Amino acid sequence: MTLHATLIPGDGIGPDITEATVRLLAAAGADITWDRQLAGMAAVNAVNDPMPAATIESIRRTKLALKGPLETPVGEGFRSVNVALRKTFDLYANVRPAKSVLPGLRFPDVDLVIVRENTEGLYIGVENYVKIGNDERAAAQSLAVITRFGADRILRYAFEFALANGRKRVTIVHKANILKFSQGLFLDVGREIATEYAGRVTCDEKIVDACAMELTMRPERFDVIVTTNLFGDILSDLTSGLVGGLGLTPGANIGKDVAIFEAVHGTAPDIAGKGIANPTAVMLAACQMLDHVGDKTRAASIRTAIEDTLRAKKSVTGDVGGTANTSQYTDAVIGALKKIHA
Ligand code: NAI
Repeated sequence: MTLHATLIPGDGIGPDITEATVRLLAAAGADITWDRQLAGMAAVNAVNDPMPAATIESIRRTKLALKGPLETPVGEGFRSVNVALRKTFDLYANVRPAKSVLPGLRFPDVDLVIVRENTEGLYIGVENYVKIGNDERAAAQSLAVITRFGADRILRYAFEFALANGRKRVTIVHKANILKFSQGLFLDVGREIATEYAGRVTCDEKIVDACAMELTMRPERFDVIVTTNLFGDILSDLTSGLVGGLGLTPGANIGKDVAIFEAVHGTAPDIAGKGIANPTAVMLAACQMLDHVGDKTRAASIRTAIEDTLRAKKSVTGDVGGTANTSQYTDAVIGALKKIHA
């Protein structure tokens, strides 16, 4: 069955790495009709709008998008397109897997997934300065909002994700010892939901600071981590670092109706236009997209081909210690895929 998906090539290295991914998906036999749309700087240059209505319409129609990194133009009137997409489509779950594949990593057995709440917490953007005396900015405050609704849906998502992906344990990461109300509510909801999954998924709890330490000492102990927005943001970059850097880490933004898949990294302006970027993160994001639509077998074989290529380390890009360009690396992954199916 033909899959219809929106493709946003994005800015900087975006067009190179998304085209490499489209080529890989075609070689894997995925029947996808791409609706190519603009966002970010490319859209500003073309239609003077970083998030054109046509792009939103397309995603609303296809309900699926694969997205390259976007440069958010600096200046008044331009909001972050990534944040705007999350808000527009209520993409409440940010799902970031981290797995050790490259040879020579300090931690060879990491295989975990961070499920980050993507819409609430400290990132709701309610902030203000407090004037004291003549000082307009004598203090500043930022509001963290956790709702039962928001906590329930992300925690439930994490447990369902664990069940659907054969994962055994969910760790609820929090700071309820200090933030007794907001983090306390998150933890309480988590404990309630954990009882519904008892016997099917094990649940434990960790305070975020202890979790950070354990992730840098014994990361192989973690399976699925579910946490609030800010903690998830920080911990997921930490786990990217554990497995070889941003060039390898994909992220899915999942809502009730729409899902957008992307690399975690940005537009890499320092190497843009040179054809040397590592497309792995977008390729793995495309695998998350295939999983999402139920094409798990194809996703698994593409992942194996990527892992075989990275492990062999013969034709990999500069950021992971090789000399291949984007296109040569993509050829190598396609070659590995053909071997799997030979
Ligand atoms: P960045 O992730 O673009 O780059 C950081 C470093 O990692 C650079 O040295 C870059 O060359 C390298 N790198 C990143 N991805 C790579 C890849 N696939 N292959 C090889 N090397 C890679 O972060 P930076 O420089 O802070 O941000 C640049 C722009 O990207 C900014 O405009 C920022 O707003 C935007 N951005 C967009 C994101 C998105 O659309 N999801 C996420 C993060 C940043």
